[in-house]
Amino acid sequence: MFIGPFALANSLFVAPMAGVTDRPFRQLCKRLGAGYAVSEMVTSRRDLWDTLKTSRRANHDGEPGPIAVQIAGTDAAMMADAARYNVDRGAQIIDINMGCPVKKVCNQWAGSALMQDEALALSIIDAVVQACASANVPVTLKMRTGWCQSHKNALSIALAAQDAGVQMVTVHGRTREQAYKGAAEYDTVAAVKAALHIPVVANGDISSPEKAREVLRRTGADAIMVGRAAQGRPWIFREIAHFLETGEHLAPPLVSEVKRLLIEHLHDHYSLYGEFSGVRTARKHIGWYVRSLPGGEAFRHCMNALEDSASQVAAVAHFLDRLNDTMDRIPPAQPCLTPGATPVPLPEHRMEAAL
Ligand SMILES: Cc1cc2nc3c(=O)[nH]c(=O)nc-3n(C[C@H](O)[C@H](O)[C@H](O)COP(=O)(O)O)c2cc1C
Repeated sequence: MFIGPFALANSLFVAPMAGVTDRPFRQLCKRLGAGYAVSEMVTSRRDLWDTLKTSRRANHDGEPGPIAVQIAGTDAAMMADAARYNVDRGAQIIDINMGCPVKKVCNQWAGSALMQDEALALSIIDAVVQACASANVPVTLKMRTGWCQSHKNALSIALAAQDAGVQMVTVHGRTREQAYKGAAEYDTVAAVKAALHIPVVANGDISSPEKAREVLRRTGADAIMVGRAAQGRPWIFREIAHFLETGEHLAPPLVSEVKRLLIEHLHDHYSLYGEFSGVRTARKHIGWYVRSLPGGEAFRHCMNALEDSASQVAAVAHFLDRLNDTMDRIPPAQPCLTPGATPVPLPEHRMEAAL
């Protein structure tokens, strides 16, 4: 599969998730079988570009290409500026966020709120495509099925975006009104795929190899994008890849491998965020890794009280060493991620905090 001139390793994508898909996590997912990852969104507000948060989000040190940066905003000229700014800092693909449902973004008429005003959405798309044209940087678009059940306009926006020069469209199978509630539907994704000649990516509730195969079959999409199911489970990409290739399940990872991967992830995380923020922001990742393991919940509570990286790493190593005494491999599927089940949604206040 290609995005513009870039050939991707496969068609399994990591979804952009603010506060989650930072450079260490993206790199880990790519090492474990993801063919492509989009960064967390970067604001189009110039006054925020020099903040630590934005500069960390724009950090791509050592990341295998293509480097894709997602931008979010409400004003065409500012979005064009943001695209140029990120291209100058190494972005090889610019993704426009038209999918985020969070109030902090939507009240400013950004994210999925743009789907309510197609003229504004298209003026932004046009401006960003033009800003990227001279650098030959492809522009992609991520959106939802529409604003609400009675206003599902993904197809008309996708067609107009394709005409404007957008080179790939991702559709999350929910409306803005649904946020993360209910189940994702794939008929709208299938309709978008059938109508477009550029690649279309299906997203929403893909939480197992079987679900990945079902969504690909039902939508005919060129690729699938996985978000929440990869939290604490970055090896899901190799599991899906293996299943799609062979129809067989790959064995779950050894506990010893999870220990090695998690500790490497933590060290990479501390090196991006520093000791103080690194320890605190690593807690959610550790919580996700251990949530389905025996004793994981109790461990998460104790671990949240640790305030330095050495203690955090030692606690993780100790917990997984003890688990290794009782089992070789982690359990095959986490309770909330069994085939067909919807991953546990993130409460809106936690989403707001991540942005
Ligand atoms: C914590 C969190 C942060 C997110 N941040 C973004 C974001 O920055 N940009 C975006 O387009 N979508 C964002 N999303 C939406 C995801 O990219 C994805 O569309 C959604 O989670 C559905 O996929 P899933 O069911 O595989 O999780 C976020 C989702 C979560 C859970």
